[in-house]
Amino acid sequence: MKFIRNMFTKPHAEYDFENIDITRIPEHVAIIMDGNGRWAKKRGLPRTAGHKAGVEALRDIIRTSSQLGIKYLSLYAFSTENWKRPEDEVNALMQLLVMYLRKEVQELHKNNVKINIIGDIDGLPKSAQEEIHSAFELTQNNQGLIVNIALNYGGRSEIIHAIKALARKVKNNELEIESIDEEIFSGFLYTAGIPDPDLLIRPSGELRVSNFLLWQIAYSEFWFSNIYWPDFSGKHLMKAIIDYQKRDRRYGGVK
Ligand code: IPE
Ligand code: IPE
Ligand code: MG
Repeated sequence: MKFIRNMFTKPHAEYDFENIDITRIPEHVAIIMDGNGRWAKKRGLPRTAGHKAGVEALRDIIRTSSQLGIKYLSLYAFSTENWKRPEDEVNALMQLLVMYLRKEVQELHKNNVKINIIGDIDGLPKSAQEEIHSAFELTQNNQGLIVNIALNYGGRSEIIHAIKALARKVKNNELEIESIDEEIFSGFLYTAGIPDPDLLIRPSGELRVSNFLLWQIAYSEFWFSNIYWPDFSGKHLMKAIIDYQKRDRRYGGVK
């Protein structure tokens, strides 16, 4: 197996690389990074400490994804519904995001990672928008792992956003109603040009989608775990992929 350079070069010795079929790695893995609050609560810490630990967990997941040759990694970081949380928590999350990008972007860039943001960026604080913009600019020509960070993202809101853009085109006579099909519609989503997730992972014990990539997960394989996100590591990602490789994806057909 070929590894990419720098911090991603050395694979974890204890990781189960042996049992993975490297020729059948999912091209796109999506993760709902959930359980930060409960992780903190279990330790008698404030929820924000859980979010901080959650950000730390990202490093190993991105590294392992790169090593495995995953092409797209989509990470649900903040939903359109997460604004309902106490103001303090929302502010802390936004600050963590800015700090994460500021701190990690050079290292990610060195490792050929391309940062892409999906969601309504205009609705984020100015400081976050600026940091997102510079991370995107810096890494946009990289050819390695593409990390989609879902921020102020909601699947339903994404669909409405796409419908409005389509309707505008129709109104301006730039698009025929009859020509609208699944491919054209997909091109108006935040994920335009990105293949649908092959595998959707949700840690923390919740068995729901919480408005993530609703259109795109039509035929994704789901993998759930009781582990809270801050404890989630490359080892768990690999376990998910090993299980994924045992699934029979029929897409409605027969084998
Ligand atoms: C995920 O952890 C982080 C975000 C949703 C931003 P939570 O904060 O939802 O953690 P729990 O679900 O309360 O444990
Ligand atoms: C989903 O987690 C959103 C993110 C992980 C960013 P939530 O914690 O917001 O989901 P619910 O409220 O348990 O459905
Ligand atoms: Mg949660």
